[in-house]
This record gives sequence, structure tokens and C-alpha cells, in this order.
Amino acid sequence: MNLKQLIKKMTLEQKLAQLSQFTADCLSVTASGAISGPAGELALTKEQVSATGSTLNYIGADMMKGIQDEHMQNDPNKIPLLFMQDVIHGYRTIYPIPLAIGASFDDQLAEDCCRMAAKESALGGVHVVFSPMVDLARDPRWGRCMETTGEDPYLNSQMARAMVRGYQGKMKGKYDVAACVKHFACYGGAEAGRDYNTVDMSMRNLQDYYLPAYKAAIDEDVEMVMTSFNLLNGVPSSGNKWLMNDTLRKKWGFDGIVISDYNAIREMNMHGYCATEKDCAEKSIKATCDIEMRSATYLQQVPNLIIEGKIKMKDIDKAVLRVLKLKEKMGLFENPYLVADGEKEEKVCLCKEHREIARKAAEKSAVLLKNNGVLPFDTSAKKVAVIGPFADKGMIGFWACLGKAEEAVSVAQGVKNLLPDATVTCQEGCSSKLNETDISGVEKAVELAKESDIVILTVGEEAYHSGEGNSRAEIKLSIAQQTLIKQVVKANPKTAVVLFNGRPLVLNGIIDDMPALVDAWQPGTEGGNAIANLLFGKVNFSAKLPMTFPKTEGQIPIYYNSFRTGRPKGDDSSDAGYCSRYQDVGNLPLFPFGYGLSYSTFQISKPTLSTNVITKKDKLVAEVTVKNTSNVDGEVVLQAYIGDDYASLVRPVKELKDYKKVMLKAGEEKTVKFKITEEMLRFWSANDKFESEYGSFTLWISDCSDTGESVKVEYVKKR
Ligand code: BGC
Repeated sequence: MNLKQLIKKMTLEQKLAQLSQFTADCLSVTASGAISGPAGELALTKEQVSATGSTLNYIGADMMKGIQDEHMQNDPNKIPLLFMQDVIHGYRTIYPIPLAIGASFDDQLAEDCCRMAAKESALGGVHVVFSPMVDLARDPRWGRCMETTGEDPYLNSQMARAMVRGYQGKMKGKYDVAACVKHFACYGGAEAGRDYNTVDMSMRNLQDYYLPAYKAAIDEDVEMVMTSFNLLNGVPSSGNKWLMNDTLRKKWGFDGIVISDYNAIREMNMHGYCATEKDCAEKSIKATCDIEMRSATYLQQVPNLIIEGKIKMKDIDKAVLRVLKLKEKMGLFENPYLVADGEKEEKVCLCKEHREIARKAAEKSAVLLKNNGVLPFDTSAKKVAVIGPFADKGMIGFWACLGKAEEAVSVAQGVKNLLPDATVTCQEGCSSKLNETDISGVEKAVELAKESDIVILTVGEEAYHSGEGNSRAEIKLSIAQQTLIKQVVKANPKTAVVLFNGRPLVLNGIIDDMPALVDAWQPGTEGGNAIANLLFGKVNFSAKLPMTFPKTEGQIPIYYNSFRTGRPKGDDSSDAGYCSRYQDVGNLPLFPFGYGLSYSTFQISKPTLSTNVITKKDKLVAEVTVKNTSNVDGEVVLQAYIGDDYASLVRPVKELKDYKKVMLKAGEEKTVKFKITEEMLRFWSANDKFESEYGSFTLWISDCSDTGESVKVEYVKKR
């Protein structure tokens, strides 16, 4: 199809409608041509509604087909709608939240999960998924930590790439859907962890930490980018020319569609950046934001901006072309429904194969944080108590798209499935309310614990305690949940605590009471089966924390790749004064990035090097021997960290540069190699580009960010 010809035929109003996205409930025009409801509130005309380019928030293939049908009858140019949806961690079969997927340190797993979500979405009529969300997060108070893969730019970049591969394939297969990386940029840097809040940061911080994961998605050919709600150094993202035009398009070469976040263009007025809606539209168009989501400033203001010569028609045409190109690439002009099919959707969603992927993902993302030996539980247990507010609840988490909690396996159900002969009894103990103090149910829970062989104690957060708009200033368990833990453990020390959470939580004051602690995050449709398999040792733990767990909120922000100071404290046992420390709590976190236990134990040798010098061309190979010193098969995540000893801009203590998951049978030993290249040593320099500097570096290969023996590596001009 000749898209440029098509654009020539279009009126300005029709072009602007292609650049406008409304929720599905805005798209209906009655026979008399009346516009009511949300579309009426937006003051849209019948013509604008009929020519709209894309939509979001509808449910399933049948509804999609109905909307597309009506649209194709009314659209003057017969241009099909693009259907977009928040498929964040699954469409109907829900796998663990992205933060949990980060904990898996397993790129293939992330890809497989997104592939599965792509298939269900495509059958459900989705063309674009609003994922991956790759905002780096260092503040667990922020509710949207659950949507990211964590605090590390390298891990986030690898995950971003894997997710784009999973959704998009090669953009040729029948179940390939377009991905939309978000939220560009730095939404995770929200001050004080308060959602939608200001982000103010240095260029160095931006380039080294916050931007790489978006760039990784661009390098993987992601089709779309979504702006963020926040200010970045004084300018809201949706009107930020430096961010979108200069960086994303010119520097990174992105030529796909940029869409604003929901109402974010109009919100530039609330931000105090644009005095009028006209100003909002002008700034966003000039910044090259192509589609406006859920507000109508383009439709209503651009015609006058064109008359006044403030916006050029050729810029509008370029944006429309980008939108039409995606429609053409996906084959929508030939078949506006693609593979949408209600019957097949029903059959494929929650099918055995997809449930298995979701279960495997939950098993590979739950982190064993503590174990005094009580785990794994013996499968011969006859009386199993499952206590706590989440004992018999499907835990699918925030942004679960079409997923239903009642279609998910609870912990109690998972244990019943695994141990059909055992008696599994539940007791809530207390409610899940954030500030719950009512402990009247604890007594009954204690009675049950006493008469049971073992206890699984479920605590933590509901889905809606994290996610968009759900920041928390205090990230502790409620008084009621803490009391429940203390009393139940006292009654039966054979207790394992299972934590559900969308972010790291503060567990000080209660962690010492727990014989064992499993971080299950929000594990999705198959959560209960996965947790049962892990607790009873059918499957081993292998996940590692993708975000640091602070000891107390006062330590936030806390992350492993921080800078050294001129007055380092050393470890927390020293109480030296006049150094960088708190007087009342130590500097160390409760659990660092990269931490996680297993039923196996591993011994990792000091790295040996093929040579200790590298040049721009000549890499080196670092090798470790890793041995499974236990009698249980297990998988270890080997993590390679590098620290730049001295540089023209001070570098962090260490940074993750590579990771590998290694499976080892009981007693088995393997040699694992890591390539160390000059590229790994680059950072955003005072010359405003990524550069490396000659000098000495420290290298660790370990199974956590705070352990491991190091070796020195030199980067030199010539060997
Ligand atoms: C969120 C986005 C989401 C969009 C559409 C916004 O509120 O920030 O992540 O994709 O809504 O639902």
C-alpha cells in the first residue's frame, strides 16, 4: 500500500485522529450520531471518533472484533484501528510480576513468558502490548517497583531485550505482537518513591543507570516507546524534545511510534510547564510524541497551531506515517482482525502448556531468603496448616490484565495438589489491611499451628498495595501480621513464612523470629503449585534478589552499585565516628542485590585469568570453578562484577557486567568462563559519551553482590 498517497488524501482532522488514542468506551457513536459518555466529556465529534487510529482497554477477541467492525464501517479511509493493551505479566495466564522475573536472572524464561503472553494476546485481538516496563528502581517505597526488573541497569537491559524478543519475535509470525517499552524516561527515579513525582538527576546518573534499559529495548527493535508522567530535570517527558527527538530518535536511531502515557500530554498543564492545552499539544508534537493517549489536545489544538505556523504539516505527516507503517507491517490493512478469535482465545488461555510456563516462572523467581534447616518440609507431613491472610487466595498481583484471582492456585490448593493424602487446614489469623492492628484471629491460628505437623505462614501485601499510584512511606508488615508470625512460630517452630510482595519490604524486628522465609512476590496463576513444590523440595530454589532489601526505610535509597566515600565505614561491626554512617542503624542492607539461598551449597573459586591485561581489542577470559558441595541438585546464578579503582569520574564500588545460570548435580563441579571486554569498562565521561579509561579494575565472580574473592585486571593501551 502506498502510505504516503493515503496520507495525502487524508484531511487534517483524520490525520490527527490517527494520532489520538481513546479508551474503547469512547468509540461508540449511536445511530443518530450522538456522542455521549467519556467521548462526550472529551468533546469529541462523530467524525473524530470514526477516524480514530487506536484504542486501549477492551476485553477479548469478540469485543475487539465488534469494535473493529463498527470502525471499519465508519472510518472514511478504511484504516483499521490498532488495539493496545496493558499486558504486563501475562494476558489471561498470569506469570509472576516483572520484579520476580528479574529475580530469576533467566533471560530465556523472561522470553518464554512473553511469548506465551503474546500468543494469548494476539488471539484476544491485541496488536500492541504496553510492556516491557524497564524503569530502574532504587526506592522500594515506589509502588511500581513490581513492574520493573529491579535496580540494576545491566539486568534490566538483558530482561528488556528478552521481553521484546518474546513479544515481537521477528514481527512476522502470526502470534507476534508489537511491544512498547516504557516509561521514557526515568519514571522509577520519582523523588521519595512517590508515584508521578519529580525526577531530578545528573547526566551521569541518567546515562549510566537510568537510560541503558530503554536503549537495550531500542537495540532489540522494539516497535513503540511510551513517555513517562514525571518531570525530568524540570521538563515533563511528554514534551521533552531533548529526550525524544535528540536522544531517542537522533542519537539512538528510533523511528517507531512514541505514545504519551495516559493523559500525560494534558497533564503538562498541571505540571506548570504549559499554560494552555494548545501549548501542551505544541510541545508534544515538537518533541515528536506521535500518539496522544486519552486526551484530545492534538485533535482540538493542532489545527490552529498549523494555521499560526507553529507546527508544520510535514511533522504531522511524519507521525501519521509512523502509525500507518506499524499497521501495514502487522498486516492490518489486509485483515483488520489478524488472528483474533474468541473460541481459540478461550482454548489457549490457561491451557496446560501455558500453566506450565507460569509454574516454572514462579518456581524460578521465588527467593529463599532464610532457612534455619526447617525447609524443605518432609512430604510425609500429615497435618499441614496454611495460615495468614493469603493462605487460600490466588495471588496474581497488580496489572494482571484479564487474569482472575479465582483462576489462580492458592498456596493451600497447591499443597493439596502435591500432598493429596495430607489434611490441609487454613486459618486467616488476621486481615491483610496495611495498618491492621486487630489480632483477635491470632488465637485460632495458634491453636491450628500447635496441632499441625508443619505450618506455612502467608504474609505480605495484597496486589493493590503495590502498582500504579500505590506508593508506601512505610513498607513494614502490619502489627497484626507481625504478631501472627511471632505467635505462630512460638506455637510451632516448624514454620516457613511465605511473603507476597510487589517490592522489597522492611522485615527488621520480625526476620529473627522466622525459621525460614520465602519471597514469592506476586507469583501468578500457578503460584500455589510452585510454592508447594519449592517448600517440599520437589524443586530447588535458584532466584536472586533484583533489588536490595533495606533494614529500615531510613536507609532508602539503598542499592549495591553505590559510590565510595572519602570516609568509608567498613563493615557494620565498627562503630568509628566521623565516617559515612548512621548512628542508629548500620549501613548494610538486610539482604543485598543478588542474594538468595538454595537447598544446595556451592563453592566458588577465586577467578583465574587468561591474562590480567586487556586492550581495546584484546579481551580476557576469567574462569571460576563452581562446585555443588551438597547432596541436592541445584542451579546457581554466577554474577560477574567489576569495579573501576580510580577514574576521572568516580565509579561505583562494583557493577554487574554479566551473569550465567549454571545447573550442577549434587557433588558436581564445573568450570565457567566469563569474557571481560573493554566495553564493560565504559562509563558516561566528562566528554559526554561512553568511554573507558586505562587503569586498574577489580573483578569478582560470585553468587551475590556482597561476597566473593576478587582479582585485579589492567586495561592498557598495548599489551
Ligand atoms: C500507566 C501506563 C499504562 C497506561 C495505559 C498509565 O496510567 O502509567 O503504564 O500503560 O496507563 O493503561
